[in-house]
Amino acid sequence: MSTERTTDRTARLSGEVTDRTAHLTGEVVDSFQRTADPRLHELLTALTRHLHDFVRETEPTMQEWERAIGFLTATGQMSSDTRQEFILLSDVLGISMLVETINGHRDPGATESTVLGPFHMTQSPVRELGANIDLVGSGEPCVVRGRVLSADGTPLPGAVLDVWQADPEGFYDVQRPDIQPAGNGRGLFTADAEGRFWFRTCLPSPYPIPTDGPVGELLKATDRHPYRPAHIHFIASAAGHAPVTTHIFVAGSAYLDSDAVFAVKESLVQDFAETDDPSLAREFGVANPFRYTHFDLVLETA
Ligand code: BEZ
Ligand code: FE
Repeated sequence: MSTERTTDRTARLSGEVTDRTAHLTGEVVDSFQRTADPRLHELLTALTRHLHDFVRETEPTMQEWERAIGFLTATGQMSSDTRQEFILLSDVLGISMLVETINGHRDPGATESTVLGPFHMTQSPVRELGANIDLVGSGEPCVVRGRVLSADGTPLPGAVLDVWQADPEGFYDVQRPDIQPAGNGRGLFTADAEGRFWFRTCLPSPYPIPTDGPVGELLKATDRHPYRPAHIHFIASAAGHAPVTTHIFVAGSAYLDSDAVFAVKESLVQDFAETDDPSLAREFGVANPFRYTHFDLVLETA
């Protein structure tokens, strides 16, 4: 990715050119005047103003403009049913997290949200509470347990938890269908009569976001690493409550302070301590020692 810019183009735009560009912006904004949907009108006119200002500020050469179009074209061409390069681009530019933050829950007692990411693209298999979502049995055994609660502390029986995580080598099932069975690392659980949930898995590890496409090229050109700290994804939902899309991050994981997609929130970092408690091992049907984490997902009322 080239950032070359010829030095003889550093002169600012002349007054005449500036006037012409302002006129052009006005013309494009006016062209949207008859848009029936007021929100679409607002979005398109703001987009036009901001993009035109960006061009006026950075004065791209024709070559740079073609490079930008080429980058977006490659981003589209890289996208498929199992690969979402545009979400990845939004993630590494911090846009996903910006949208998340603006739309985030207002109740300070509710679990904070974070990015969805590009790998929630397949239906999670329905599983019984206590099931093991690690179908390969490759990592450090881990038990995840908690409750789904309303913001006032009331348990939410029947709450649904959609869970997905990468394998210990850092790949989701959809990334390596030849190695992982479909549904590996995924589960759709229903909380019990007291809002409780529990399942078995393997300890997640930090992993790089996919770098074999244009987004990887962007990270390389900007000397940024592609790693995300170890985490498990959740979407928790319950009747009468706003669903939350979030992660639980493993305390002490590498990259907690430099997540490639800027998605770490302190309240989401959880202890996954090693335990060899025989009664816990018996309760969850696992061999000692194993990793254990316990947390509540708190939903605000809709
Ligand atoms: C993920 O955690 O699955 C993810 C999020 C953003 C970009 C790439 C991966
Ligand atoms: Fe992930």
